[in-house]
Amino acid sequence: MSEIRVYPDSVLRKKAKDVEKIDDRIVQLLDKMSDIMYRYNGIGLAAEQIGILDKLVVIDLRPDGKNQLIELINPVIIASEGTYEEHEEGCLSVPGYYDTVKNRKKWIKVKYLDRNEEERIIETEDFLSVVIQHEIDHLNGRLFIDHLSPTQKLVFKKEWKKLQKEREEGK
Ligand code: CO
Repeated sequence: MSEIRVYPDSVLRKKAKDVEKIDDRIVQLLDKMSDIMYRYNGIGLAAEQIGILDKLVVIDLRPDGKNQLIELINPVIIASEGTYEEHEEGCLSVPGYYDTVKNRKKWIKVKYLDRNEEERIIETEDFLSVVIQHEIDHLNGRLFIDHLSPTQKLVFKKEWKKLQKEREEGK
């Protein structure tokens, strides 16, 4: 069985809880999450995706092909502006499916804690902004497919059935 929870697993619809204390359990979880993200060649992973309801996110866009890990504890978007251009999103919890998302914010300001319990702020308007929004959505029980238009959702349903069938046959 995969370590990653896959749609329509109900855990992906739950709301994560704030981390109250950054103890060994949290630090080990963050390490485990980045391990899994790298192993699956993902660029981001929220704790929900491994069935854990703490507000934890790891991201690595590997600029210049080098690892540059970002760990977000209790991330909150405190300001946002504009709309990011249409772009394709995918998700390790919706494997094999990619679709156009139109309604992400262009610029965001995010408050979070790092693993040393320091409060930090990121301001970004690049692709990183979209990835952070995607991951914070996970912590609120949302997936990128929720952002699709009704027509796109119909296509998704059809395609997803096909993908599931292929996965079952592939076993
Ligand atoms: Co995702």
